[in-house]
Amino acid sequence: MKGIILAGGSGTRLSPSTDSMNKHLLPVFDKPMIYYPLSVLMLAGLKEIMIISTSEDTPRFKKLLGDGKELGITLAYREQTEPKGIPEALTIAEDFIEDDNVTLMLGDNIFYGQGFTTTLRNAIKNHRHATIFGYRVKDPHRFGVVEFDHHKKVLSLEEKPDDPKSDFAVTGLYIYDHRAVQIAKKLQPSARGELEITDLNKEYLKWNHLDVELLGRGFAWMDAGTQQSLFEASEFVKTTQQRQGFKIACLEEIAFYMNYISKEALYEKGKSMEKNDYGQYLIEIAERKHSEQYWDSIDHHPMLGVVEND
Ligand code: DAU
Repeated sequence: MKGIILAGGSGTRLSPSTDSMNKHLLPVFDKPMIYYPLSVLMLAGLKEIMIISTSEDTPRFKKLLGDGKELGITLAYREQTEPKGIPEALTIAEDFIEDDNVTLMLGDNIFYGQGFTTTLRNAIKNHRHATIFGYRVKDPHRFGVVEFDHHKKVLSLEEKPDDPKSDFAVTGLYIYDHRAVQIAKKLQPSARGELEITDLNKEYLKWNHLDVELLGRGFAWMDAGTQQSLFEASEFVKTTQQRQGFKIACLEEIAFYMNYISKEALYEKGKSMEKNDYGQYLIEIAERKHSEQYWDSIDHHPMLGVVEND
């Protein structure tokens, strides 16, 4: 399974903050937005990840995250020269995906909640053809909307409908088999002039090859694409972190608990930024003497939030 994070776009909704800066590099409280989707793909167990952004911004992501070696993963980068739509990520990454399955994630989506890692890993393990994730919201007309029956069979999909058929938004996390690339190539732009991910999902729905996983009420999903939602996401991260003392989407911590990097490497990284709270947190984890006995596997790590067994 390959992973893709789409982090381009025009960023007009966040102007002037994004006039000289890519949206996904703006901070969500104490770390850049891109850390959040990257943490999701890492927790899902994906080690080969491609970040797609604009020609201007791709070097900035490279500067921030490098080749991924420090996190024990492989990061590749590709440019999207114009924001022609989300499905274009799949055609841009065609030679990276090859014949593999792929998890595509939008760079402005933030997921957090106990059991998410298990839900995602199970979705990847039991994946048939295409899987989307539904989340109940108060304002479904702002999103892709999925309607389903009581067996969770998908009945319809609509992109930003005036009159939504359900309250369930389609989140920006999609799992596809390798056919997605060929389907994406055949899509036509919508009335707003973009290739729509909802149209790609509709193709899978036509063949009854689309599954929906529902994310429950004890779960937080945010899309940080507007001033309001970006601020709310920062507030959520700040409050949750302050209360629990665990950081959300701390990539080095995840890499450490996934056994991708050593305690020494974690400590060194912390030392390199020990003057700030993020660096001190890394040092604290590296020095926590009883951590191995306490959280003997990633499934019992409270921050990573996985308690159920398969
Ligand atoms: O967040 C979930 C929603 O994302 C889904 O419910 C919708 O079905 C889906 O269409 C999408 O809606 P948005 O209106 O939020 O999409 P937006 O144009 O804001 O783009 C989402 C992210 O993808 C954003 O981080 C920018 C990036 N992007 C978008 C486009 C169209 C690109 O990098 N390139 C693009 O060409």
